[in-house]
Amino acid sequence: MTIHFTVNNKAMSFDGDIDMPLLWYLRDHAKLSGTKYGCGIAECGACTVHIDDRAVRSCVIPLKNIEGKNIRTVEGLAQGKKLHAVQQAWIEEDVSQCGYCQPGQLMAAADLLSRNIDPNNKDIAEITNICRCGTYPRIRKAIKRAARIIREEKL
Ligand code: FES
Ligand code: FES
Repeated sequence: MTIHFTVNNKAMSFDGDIDMPLLWYLRDHAKLSGTKYGCGIAECGACTVHIDDRAVRSCVIPLKNIEGKNIRTVEGLAQGKKLHAVQQAWIEEDVSQCGYCQPGQLMAAADLLSRNIDPNNKDIAEITNICRCGTYPRIRKAIKRAARIIREEKL
């Protein structure tokens, strides 16, 4: 069975093991290595991507569930040369430490801000992605900075 979907607005198809998790497809077949493997059991969030504009943990999504869906990875977050507000804010707040969790953090934050452009600490705490370097305070600041960027762009 061949399944069809898009990744970062490019049409893709896959004719193989449709029980394979999306994360494996992205890294090994599509060669999009920005999305990371951490735990493989939907706990850490390193593998977070968007499916139809909602953040999901791609390590537990089998390919058979993505027929007709639109996938966005961290490589597709910027619009051409224009960084997404979260990317810009992450740079300005110097969030990253080892960096391993950060693609997933960015994707989770972008999803939150697509639904809430003025998140408070409680809203931000709904993001449960793990950072073993403990960058949570900078992530919080960067999400609030990204929210300001988005609000200003909407004026
Ligand atoms: S690798 Fe998917 S949640 Fe940890
Ligand atoms: S920056 Fe190192 S795990 Fe988050």
